[in-house]
Amino acid sequence: MENCFISDFSRHVDERVTVQGWVANRRSSGRVSFLILRDGTGICQAIVERDTIGDIYPEIKKLPLESSLRVHGHVVKEERSPGGYELHVDGIHIIHKAEEFPIGKKEHGPDFLLSQRHLWLRSPRQISIMRIRDAIIRYVREFFSINGFTLIDTPIFTTTCGEDSTNLFSVDYFDLGKTYLSQTGQLYLEALIPGLGKVYCLGPTFRAERSKTRRHLTEFWMVEGEMAFYEHKDNLDLQEQFVSYVVQKTLAEKEDELKKIERDIEPLRNITPPFYRISYDEALEILKGKGSDIQWGSDLGGDDETLITGLFDKPVFIECYPKKTKAFYMKQHPEKPEYVLCADLLAPEGYGEIIGGSQREDDLNVLLNSIRDNGLDPERYGWYLDLRRFGSVPHSGFGLGIERTVAWICGLKHVRETIPFPRMLYRAYP
Ligand code: 4AD
Ligand code: MG
Repeated sequence: MENCFISDFSRHVDERVTVQGWVANRRSSGRVSFLILRDGTGICQAIVERDTIGDIYPEIKKLPLESSLRVHGHVVKEERSPGGYELHVDGIHIIHKAEEFPIGKKEHGPDFLLSQRHLWLRSPRQISIMRIRDAIIRYVREFFSINGFTLIDTPIFTTTCGEDSTNLFSVDYFDLGKTYLSQTGQLYLEALIPGLGKVYCLGPTFRAERSKTRRHLTEFWMVEGEMAFYEHKDNLDLQEQFVSYVVQKTLAEKEDELKKIERDIEPLRNITPPFYRISYDEALEILKGKGSDIQWGSDLGGDDETLITGLFDKPVFIECYPKKTKAFYMKQHPEKPEYVLCADLLAPEGYGEIIGGSQREDDLNVLLNSIRDNGLDPERYGWYLDLRRFGSVPHSGFGLGIERTVAWICGLKHVRETIPFPRMLYRAYP
């Protein structure tokens, strides 16, 4: 008799099968035990009767949660059962009897659960989130692939700072001194566009941010696109297509999982182009109107973003920040040199920034001055400056944070549940 996955039960109704898995839950009486089995593809209720399985029954009746089993039995259709089928068991082999599982039904605090993350990941809600994350990343890749982008794997060890020099993790690199863990793949993507036109990368990025917020991780996954001959507006058009594609695909294919985690999916149906677009200066007016004392030149904080997204039923781009607020590589506004051609995309329902993007500075001298003004060492940017010496063209790109996007689509308060093993200011275990 072959091993059968629970997800294949529909093809084995009334047949005898073997299932291997874990005891996710158990309810027992004198002569019958109801085991909820989980096998990595789904869950099913297994009915174990004392009279059928004999001597092993007393042990099954007290079997600790998360013990692993090999179970033989008949698949029976049962609408009321989780998954729609039941297994009527006639034989059981205990593969491993578990110790008492530390995560129970009672409420646990986030710190406890995070310290048990390696075990917490077996709970139904976390399983659904991991499945949705997987799907979102697949749709992200699909979008870029359909639209003619080439995937480029950019390095993790870097010698240049891509975003903010106060956020770098440094690593001793043999005799070469310090290198940094990558904050972005963007600068390297820019080197690929003369050969490939449209490129993207998807990988881990690192920021030594001392922020303990619901939006910050020190290690997170970012997908970045970079496009030759795209100007600022083309960049925003592409981003709203991209985000809408990922959200609508998730709704179409993962509605079940979203419902399991009790996501209200109505607000997501609305995520279609066009998104709203307001300028940084307009955003400041809105915030001041609401009593904020934010000054021109400061970046929007988490609370500011929450306030703004509350006013819109779709994502909103905040365009054209002051040059001094943003990274050195952004293109100076042609009419207003104190601004740059950039936009952050804020997700609705209070989620805030999920994308940072911009047109890139393509003028060698303006870029060189920007590097100096930001206190960076032009020597280290030799290769990047070369890109403005050999066929410089207008180009743009953006980066979307995977965890913030998963948090928004899943409706989670904090990014810590969107990544298998979160790395935060006070947590690098397990
Ligand atoms: O706005 P950021 O810093 O932009 C860049 O890195 C550009 N180089 C992207 C580009 O133009 N190619 O980061 C992009 C996104 C943010 O909008 C956010 O979603 C996510 O990355 N992000 C973080 N996510 C979790 N934890 C953090 N500490 C994050 N920092 C940024
Ligand atoms: Mg940003």
